[in-house]
Amino acid sequence: MTVKTYPWWKDSTIYQIWPASFRDSNGDGFGDIPGIIKSLDHIKSLGASVVWLSPHYDSPQDDMGYDISNYEAIYEKYGTMDDMNQLIEEVHKRGLKLVCDLVINHTSSEHAWFKESKSSLDNPKRDWYIWRKPRYDDKGNRLPPTNWLSHFSGSAWNYDETTDEYYLCLFAKTQPDLNWENEETRNAIYKSALEFWFKKGVDGFRIDTAGMYSKKFAKDGKSFEDAPIVFPEQYYQPSSDFTTNGPRIHEFHKEMFEKVTSNYDVLTVGEVGHCSKEEALKYVSANEKEMNMMFLFDVVDVGSDKQDRFRYNGFTLKDFKDAVAAQSDFIKGTDAWSTVFIENHDQPRAVTRFGNTSNKQLWAKSAKLLALLQTTLTGTLYIYQGQEIGMTNLPRSWDIEEYKDINTINYWAQYKEKTPNDPEADKKLLDVINLVARDHARSPVQWDDSANGGFSTGTPWTRVNDNYKEINVKAQTGDPDSVFSFYQNAIKVRQLHKELFIHGDFEILDYENDKLFTYVKSSADQKSYVVLNFSNEDVPFKPLISGDLKLINSNVKDVNENTLTPYEGRVYLVE
Ligand code: GLC
Ligand code: CA
Repeated sequence: MTVKTYPWWKDSTIYQIWPASFRDSNGDGFGDIPGIIKSLDHIKSLGASVVWLSPHYDSPQDDMGYDISNYEAIYEKYGTMDDMNQLIEEVHKRGLKLVCDLVINHTSSEHAWFKESKSSLDNPKRDWYIWRKPRYDDKGNRLPPTNWLSHFSGSAWNYDETTDEYYLCLFAKTQPDLNWENEETRNAIYKSALEFWFKKGVDGFRIDTAGMYSKKFAKDGKSFEDAPIVFPEQYYQPSSDFTTNGPRIHEFHKEMFEKVTSNYDVLTVGEVGHCSKEEALKYVSANEKEMNMMFLFDVVDVGSDKQDRFRYNGFTLKDFKDAVAAQSDFIKGTDAWSTVFIENHDQPRAVTRFGNTSNKQLWAKSAKLLALLQTTLTGTLYIYQGQEIGMTNLPRSWDIEEYKDINTINYWAQYKEKTPNDPEADKKLLDVINLVARDHARSPVQWDDSANGGFSTGTPWTRVNDNYKEINVKAQTGDPDSVFSFYQNAIKVRQLHKELFIHGDFEILDYENDKLFTYVKSSADQKSYVVLNFSNEDVPFKPLISGDLKLINSNVKDVNENTLTPYEGRVYLVE
């Protein structure tokens, strides 16, 4: 058997830190860089080899740091530049790598570039953002330049009195979109947001909203068109036809690769979301020289409207299988590369969403089932803070006031405006928020059973989940039956059989089965058979493949030859 070698970023397991809620070292209630340094051994012991740090930059925090006011400075509450230098050093000392977040579709409105841009029509940086004149209706009412909907509700344009124009802001009003059409702007981004950090030794970037830099103009090459109406009950409409995978997006990525990222041995992973297979290959084929890999949202958006997560209709296991296949299959027979993830800071907790948290036994078993799924799929594996201990969504009993995310807050406010008195509808939307809001990922990491789950000795900026006494790192470390120990071992098994699990081909054997998810992973000279019971029932076990099955991992102790118990999962080698 020949041993193939791969770029380090293919075989890595990447652990994502969302700093505000990771670990507070000084009791001010906010996670911080010294808290991260203190916890690096936990990450290393999990078996991760790369840390991805969500934005640590200076920011007014309207979108928790995805609104950057200075790429070259640290958010005060997270620490100092010295702390950051030390983090880079401590990460490297342990043989780990550090990947930062690259938020360059927009800045904060507090960024010096935007302050200049908005100051006058003839400011040299005016064209660094996307400014347009108002429209007026028949009655002379001022309207935004197009009907585009913000991802955080309302118009994607914000009016600025200083110059009587609107600027484009696809997310919050305080997150103006940068104008990538302007070469000077692009060069400034490369220098300030990328080069600055590469020179400090960071090992790559997770590229935020990587499909959104190129906006599609109308025929005149200057103005923008209204989006088609897909939500008839409202004026503002999803703009993705005009704002994602736009006409120059690949040109921009190729330029960034050529001018910057190709000069370093770094990892680049773009957040793209949804696109066709053809489009996906343009972003991540090695030959295209754009990015190493991308995040697609098929799995995390399953059951939700792609344009609006809170329009949630549920899903079948077949939908879930389709989603898993879509995210990994597009690389088959190509030189492209994919990612495996089921949680991040924008998603609820996977064990609540895809598992069963109704009792402690099923919670642990289904968290382990998801670990089996994740550690046997093809691509670079990402694990989000708390996932490794099976952290859950926030309790349904909590008031909406406990939700702090701008996405949730704006959505709820807009809904309340339209629907002031409808307890039935309120309950329905609150159920959905309790299932899919971003807030679930953002409650503090549960380190131990002391006050605030050991996250902070002060008052946490956002409430710690009530279940911290049962679910925490300390209780699980060293317990051979814990979710954490299971993840540790599952990552080892993945690394031991790289050709199968990280690089192998993936084939689903039971598309129509609504309880079991069965697939084969294959490499040039081996096969693995994976069967996962996603139901709450006993299901007969009948292998759908010939050959002897040798069990190499499972979330139950005594496997019964003939029956899969609820949420049981098994990984076999086929001999
Ligand atoms: C990405 C980030 C998300 C943020 C948005 C705007 O989707 O992951 O957290 O709100 O971009 O920057
Ligand atoms: Ca702190």
